Amino acid sequence: MPPLTLWLLISAVLAQRQEISLNSIIISNITYNNISPPTFTLPTSDSPINLSVSLCSDQLPSPRFFLNSASTSVPSPDGGDGGIEISLDEGLGTWNGTTPNGGILAVYTGQLSSGVVVPPWTFQLGVSNGDPLHTVLDGLPLLGDTTASQALIFSPSFSSLPISSPSYPNYTLPESNTTMPNAPSNVPNFTLALFPTSSSPPSLAKSACAVLGQQSANENMTTSLAFRGSEGFRTQWLVEDLDNRTNYTAFVVQDGAKVSEAIFLSTKSSSFACPLLHSLPFCPQTAYSVPLQPPKAPFTSYNTTNLDPAISSSFLSSLQNFSTTLSAFPCGRDVYSPLKGCTDCFDTYRTWLCAVAFPQCADPPSNPSTFFSPTPPSESPTPALLAQSSSNRSPILPDLGTSHTILLPCIETCQAVDRSCPPFLGWRCPVMAVNANWSYGLGFIDGIDGSEGQGRISGASGRGVDRWGGMWCSGL
Ligand SMILES: *[C@@H]1O[C@H](CO)[C@@H](O)[C@H](O)[C@H]1NC(C)=O
Ligand SMILES: *[C@@H]1O[C@H](CO)[C@@H](O)[C@H](O)[C@H]1NC(C)=O
Ligand SMILES: *[C@@H]1O[C@H](CO)[C@@H](O)[C@H](O)[C@H]1NC(C)=O
Ligand SMILES: *[C@@H]1O[C@H](CO)[C@@H](O)[C@H](O)[C@H]1NC(C)=O
Ligand SMILES: *[C@@H]1O[C@H](CO)[C@@H](O)[C@H](O)[C@H]1NC(C)=O
Ligand SMILES: *[C@@H]1O[C@H](CO)[C@@H](O)[C@H](O)[C@H]1NC(C)=O
Ligand SMILES: *[C@@H]1O[C@H](CO)[C@@H](O)[C@H](O)[C@H]1NC(C)=O
Ligand SMILES: *[C@@H]1O[C@H](CO)[C@@H](O)[C@H](O)[C@H]1NC(C)=O
Ligand SMILES: *[C@@H]1O[C@H](CO)[C@@H](O)[C@H](O)[C@H]1NC(C)=O
Ligand SMILES: *[C@@H]1O[C@H](CO)[C@@H](O)[C@H](O)[C@H]1NC(C)=O
Ligand SMILES: *[C@@H]1O[C@H](CO)[C@@H](O)[C@H](O)[C@H]1NC(C)=O
Ligand SMILES: *[C@@H]1O[C@H](CO)[C@@H](O)[C@H](O)[C@H]1NC(C)=O
Repeated sequence: MPPLTLWLLISAVLAQRQEISLNSIIISNITYNNISPPTFTLPTSDSPINLSVSLCSDQLPSPRFFLNSASTSVPSPDGGDGGIEISLDEGLGTWNGTTPNGGILAVYTGQLSSGVVVPPWTFQLGVSNGDPLHTVLDGLPLLGDTTASQALIFSPSFSSLPISSPSYPNYTLPESNTTMPNAPSNVPNFTLALFPTSSSPPSLAKSACAVLGQQSANENMTTSLAFRGSEGFRTQWLVEDLDNRTNYTAFVVQDGAKVSEAIFLSTKSSSFACPLLHSLPFCPQTAYSVPLQPPKAPFTSYNTTNLDPAISSSFLSSLQNFSTTLSAFPCGRDVYSPLKGCTDCFDTYRTWLCAVAFPQCADPPSNPSTFFSPTPPSESPTPALLAQSSSNRSPILPDLGTSHTILLPCIETCQAVDRSCPPFLGWRCPVMAVNANWSYGLGFIDGIDGSEGQGRISGASGRGVDRWGGMWCSGL
């Protein structure tokens, strides 16, 4: 073992300049080094490039990144040699510009108090002549629902089917008993990171590698592709073995480098008995707990493989009857709305029927207005819960035999049918002021007065569930 000074000198000499090539990511570990900072060379480029830095490890002091894009001298933190600092925001730093003579990135570690032993700092560097390789994804993950030990979570949607517009006289409504369409060719490589929520907001939340490093809860999960009707495709995760009544944070990572914003969720209490139902081609957005008996082993949830065929048939019979009635209208020849056609009518009716035929269970909450994030929104309405005795509210499900609580469908599921269907169907939704609150959740998405997107929760997203773990009404 050489003496310390000599050792530092050797490592300085050995410190190679690692080259970052265009459109690739390198992962690097550095240790404290105040003699010669680790340096990286950038490719020479006369056209603009995007450089991105993603810090994977959270230990302090955070390393600092300095770039000299004009020459090949090592930039120093005191501002000499033309260096600029790439500052990090929640673990993510980006720079854009040209590097006509290449460029040098130097990484400085902060001064440590003596005797402090720090594990290596890990970070990723990426250089791209297109969009930055490390970014925050546009779409949010989506929570389906939870049980005491499971969570059903979706990636942002990534591909939709071309909308077929049938025309008169060959106007055909969609099949009631549809099958899932073929998978698109461009399924992104999504990974779910799920971990118990800590009391402070997640740190380094814009760094995919930091977020993946926190994952702990999702060893036992099933990944599949979900077709969600008009939302297109999403990657779906059914996560098992979670703890009851626990708050979790979920991020979705794409290609190991791009990260979504966080969503928050909570598992139900251990007495919660309703199993999850999902992946039904005829109810593409039904993905939540329903009042059914627990599935027989080895299944832990319901899908078309183990759902009682009698239930599917009675659902499909109702849907087909509606389709038959609707076909009496000369769809595509007679126009009843400048914006809507029979296909919209069919789609909105199907969404409504799914919400009514498959009620969503809820945990009778100790505090109904709770969000599950460390920084919840200030307003917190009460979800549309209804206590049910042992009978089932659904016209097609067998009685559960025990009392349970359900989350009522959002009234917008009913109003959408009213807006999309020809008047001859005589569709009516209950009047808000009278008794609608016994059948529907009111005012969460649209305002109580019907003003679109003016409801009490995230109206713009058009959903009965929000990213903070709040579930207010069902079916949307
Ligand atoms: C960085 O160091 C950590 C901890 O020593 C190690 O687990 C990891 O594999 C290293 N990564 C690289 C890219 O060297
Ligand atoms: C390039 O970086 C500058 C700041 O360094 C920023 O203001 C600008 O928006 C960036 N341009 C693009 C296209 O990212
Ligand atoms: C760098 O990224 C920005 C933001 O995504 C993008 O607008 C810009 O076009 C990218 N630069 C290049 C050279 O593609
Ligand atoms: C409608 O369908 C019939 C029989 O399937 C076909 O012969 C005809 O060409 C179609 N018309 C149009 C406009 O697509
Ligand atoms: C995953 O969870 C299911 C349901 O809890 C359980 O039956 C199975 O044994 C678990 N698998 C592993 C590998 O832990
Ligand atoms: C998908 O991304 C993960 C995480 O970065 C990586 O481990 C895996 O190899 C990737 N899979 C494919 C098929 O590229
Ligand atoms: C529910 O969580 C509590 C506390 O973590 C634990 O003691 C209990 O065993 C859990 N119950 C079930 C059924 O998992
Ligand atoms: C239903 O779930 C089971 C078990 O998770 C799985 O093996 C099966 O492929 C699923 N069926 C469909 C149609 O998705
Ligand atoms: C729906 O279609 C599936 C497969 O295409 C078939 O197995 C099932 O029997 C059909 N259900 C009804 C009620 O027609
Ligand atoms: C659908 O229509 C058929 C024929 O009129 C009828 O026998 C059946 O009961 C209807 N199904 C539902 C669910 O209303
Ligand atoms: C879950 O989050 C809610 C809202 O922030 C909080 O009131 C509750 O105590 C948390 N539960 C646990 C087990 O930390
Ligand atoms: C509906 O609203 C009325 C009047 O505001 C209230 O008395 C009743 O309890 C509500 N019903 C439900 C199920 O919330």
